[in-house]
Formats: sequence, C-alpha cells, structure tokens
Amino acid sequence: MDLSEQKQRVQHREVEFTTAIEVTNLQFAYSKKSKPILDIKKWQISKGEHIFLSGPSGSGKSTLLNLLCGTLTPSKGKISLLEQPFSSLSNRQRDTFRARNIGVVFQQFNLIPYLSVAQNINAAVYFANKGNFKNTKEVTAATYQMLNRLQLSDSLLHAKADALSIGQQQRVAIARALINDPQLLIIDEPTSALDTDARDSFMSLLKDVAADSTMIFVSHDEAMKSYFEHHCSISQLNGSLGNSASSSSKDTTNPMQERV
Ligand SMILES: Nc1ncnc2c1ncn2[C@@H]1O[C@H](COP(=O)(O)OP(=O)(O)OP(=O)(O)O)[C@@H](O)[C@H]1O
Ligand SMILES: [Mg+2]
Repeated sequence: MDLSEQKQRVQHREVEFTTAIEVTNLQFAYSKKSKPILDIKKWQISKGEHIFLSGPSGSGKSTLLNLLCGTLTPSKGKISLLEQPFSSLSNRQRDTFRARNIGVVFQQFNLIPYLSVAQNINAAVYFANKGNFKNTKEVTAATYQMLNRLQLSDSLLHAKADALSIGQQQRVAIARALINDPQLLIIDEPTSALDTDARDSFMSLLKDVAADSTMIFVSHDEAMKSYFEHHCSISQLNGSLGNSASSSSKDTTNPMQERV
C-alpha cells in the first residue's frame, strides 16, 4: 500500500467512528484496601462533544482524566478511545496513542523543567509523529502564533520551563496540548492561573482549535461553564449515587448532563 492509500484509509477511519470515549464498568482505587473513588457503569461521549466536568475538590476529577489519558489504569472495567480498546493496550502502545491522539493539560502542567518552552513543544510534535509540520521552522512558526494568542511573549521561547511563572507554565502546557491538533482534548483546570484577558483569549483559541475535537474540560471556575453545551458532574457519573451515565448524545435526555 502506498502512502496516499494509507492516508485515505486513515482519513476514512477518522470520519467513520462516532463514539470518541466509552467507559464501561470502570472502578478505580489508589490502593487495593481502599474503596474505589470512581465507580462508573457507563459513560459514552460522541465524537465532537465538548463537556464541562465538575465536582468538589477531592471528588476524583483529575483521577478520571488521568485514567482517560492512560497515566493511570483502571482497577476494573474498560476504557475505549476512538473506538479502540485503550485500557487493554500495552504501556508503550498507550503512550504512542496518547502522543498522537490526545492533547492533555495536567493540573500540575507536567512540563519538562530543564527544557526550554520551544523544546517542550517540539518534543510533543516529535512524539506525535503525525507529519503535520514539514520542518522545525514550521513548528516554531506555529508555536509563535499560539503563544501570541495566549498572550505569552516570544522572548520566552528559549526560557527554561522551570524559570517561568505558574501562569506562564500553564499557557505553555496549553500550547503543547494544542500543537498537534489532537482528536481528544483532556484539560484539567486550565484557567486557574490566568487573568480574565488571558482566560478569554484562551477560550477563543480553544474553541478554534477544538472545533473538530472531542473535549473534556475540568474547571472550578463556574464562568467557564457558559462556553459548554454539555455539563456533567462526578457525583452523577459515580454509580454510588445511583445515577450511572448512559449517553452523552445531544439528542437524549441524559440525566448526566444539563444544557448550559
Ligand atoms: N496518588 C495518589 N495516591 C493516593 N490517593 C490519591 C492520589 N491522588 C489523589 N488521591 C486521592 O484521590 C481522591 C481524588 O483526588 P483527585 O485529585 O482526583 O481529585 P480532584 O477532584 O481532581 O480534586 P481537585 O479539584 O482538588 O483537583 C482524593 O481523595 C485524593 O486524596
Ligand atoms: Mg484535580
């Protein structure tokens, strides 16, 4: 099969799937002795949905996002992403899948501290290996554009990540998550260290770049809710409250979601 045939197959596959995320009988506990903090019977998110996920501090939001991006693995149950059995992949396959398909902004950012801003972003492009950029020059141009939209000065491009302020690190983590135009975006408290101007600019950038992606967005900031069509809370997802999720489709009257 030549390259163009391979591309066509991949493109065909991309339009084919309709379920972006499917969680089935998921349980997770940090230790074998403790009670699961997550117990989700069924949660399905269709391709292209943008979900605002809320819940009190300590309720398991970051834990769920870590399970969805494969930095934690379920104690029981399974997670399918883009209709692939994500939780059954080997660690290496999961890492490759994440690099290619998921843009993640962790609550603690997880930038590589001894690398510069440019190197952190280049590393994400390198590991994704999607062929979206012809050369480093193109990556740098895209990085400049993104940093500018996030109101981050060009002069920071060669600064080491650990020499940045918290708000600056957060914006670099956001740029790194978006640079590969991922199909899934998993974003944990992305605006907590941003001022109002940077926050509005970030949301407008996110809406642009995430138009064709599926996104789960966690925030304590209720003002962020208005950007989202769907809203779902951890307590509703957790079977312990007897409200297990069924579907995230816009057309169903899903108890898991309120239109906002
Ligand atoms: N590495 C860990 N080892 C053991 N327990 C943990 C670990 N990480 C989190 N927990 C516990 O799991 C629960 C859920 O934590 P999690 O970080 O998912 O909450 P959260 O909803 O994201 O909270 P916040 O809004 O404060 O970020 C908490 O009780 C926390 O103490
Ligand atoms: Mg958290």
